[in-house]
Amino acid sequence: MSKKLYIETYGCQMNFSDSEIIASVMSGDEYELTESMEDAHVILVNTCAIRENAERRVFGRIQEFRRVKRKNPDTVIGVVGCMAERLKEDIFREYQEVDLIAGPDSYRHLPEMLDGIREGQQMANVILSREETYDNIEPVRLDSKGISAFISIMRGCDNYCSYCVVPYTRGRERSRNPETIKEEAHRLFEQGYREITLLGQNVNSYKWQTNSELIDFPDLLKQISAVNPKLRLRFATSNPKDLSDKLIQTIAYTPNIANAIHLPVQSGSTEVLNRMNRKYTRAWYLNRIESIKKHIPDAGITTDIIAGFCRETEEDHKQTLSLMRTVDYDFAFMFKYSERPGTIAAKRFKDDIPDDVKSRRLQEIISLQQRLSEQSNKRDLNKTFTILVEGPSKKDIKKMRGRNEQNKVVVFPGTKDLKGQYVKVKVTDYTSATLLGVKQDS
Ligand code: 5AD
Ligand code: SF4
Repeated sequence: MSKKLYIETYGCQMNFSDSEIIASVMSGDEYELTESMEDAHVILVNTCAIRENAERRVFGRIQEFRRVKRKNPDTVIGVVGCMAERLKEDIFREYQEVDLIAGPDSYRHLPEMLDGIREGQQMANVILSREETYDNIEPVRLDSKGISAFISIMRGCDNYCSYCVVPYTRGRERSRNPETIKEEAHRLFEQGYREITLLGQNVNSYKWQTNSELIDFPDLLKQISAVNPKLRLRFATSNPKDLSDKLIQTIAYTPNIANAIHLPVQSGSTEVLNRMNRKYTRAWYLNRIESIKKHIPDAGITTDIIAGFCRETEEDHKQTLSLMRTVDYDFAFMFKYSERPGTIAAKRFKDDIPDDVKSRRLQEIISLQQRLSEQSNKRDLNKTFTILVEGPSKKDIKKMRGRNEQNKVVVFPGTKDLKGQYVKVKVTDYTSATLLGVKQDS
């Protein structure tokens, strides 16, 4: 009889991709996935350590798993991912019901670790690797729609932005063999997938040396785009310091690479960027944006912003707002600075911006972005976009939903047989988060 595995995932796309690797490793050990934690033999929570509230949420979930374990004492509870790596065995001390702690480079060993637990031990593996890329593991796709998938092309991060815990939780940067990436993309296309997002903490520093050549990220993108013209490619995340004109031109000249760039700025002030150890200035960032707009005039541009980093002045904050207006972002993820123990910022700078000031600055950033996103949607009125149809709209089954190249959600009247196809849709209306339109005859 197969055993049942329940996985919950928090954090970034990379973590969702990792859960697919975990599901694959475990299916080799005869685990089958279940949607119900009450039925599970093993409950795994794949965690994020990026901000304190991400961790708080996971602690809340562990309380819930504890309740299940009181009813079914044989249930194994495992904490995996970035929080497991950051807190290590300390989690056992706080939560005795937790049986397993596994960091992001130890997923191949999960079956052996689970065997150890059956013998009554708690098991932990938080060793970080310089080589592990899970290269030969074919992920089990957890997204049921079957149109859009992630492929992780590299792991870890060597950038050491001063606020960020990732280099400590995911270890050193390493790129994956392009041949296995291409094979994975081929298989996905054959299975009906039509969109792939290539993932890495900083995809711009992807590199792979063969006997004869050095393959960089634009080269990799170009090679994967050749898998099929009907396969739409996206990628995340780019670090502005390494965003080359070669990459921008590759996007511009390759039709099936989506015209969308997620380019986290974090702050509009050069002084703050310097303290953040981002290794670029406001002027450099704006120069990269100019180059994107010149070569890809219809590019969707999105970002991440942190409000209230150490020593941020009102003037620094105003510079963030003014940069947002200059770039005119289509969308942004916006956060309050959260000090992470062990990071460079935690060691060097005082977390000195009072919480009410952080909240007020964040709110000003959010309000401005809402206006910018709405104006961006308004500019799309009467434009016709090529939409990759993902499935029925959540709110109205007579409508279908998909995304345009710029990564905006578009909803239009249509039938289920359009799923997985590219259709032309003319925008006739919009809400703050969605474009609404009608299908054009192609
Ligand atoms: N506090 C707040 N936001 C953070 N991010 C990363 N570390 C922190 C932190 N300590 C944000 C950055 C990053 C995104 C994934 O999360 O904006 O780009
Ligand atoms: Fe992803 Fe960073 Fe969270 Fe880890 S800490 S899950 S890398 S966002």
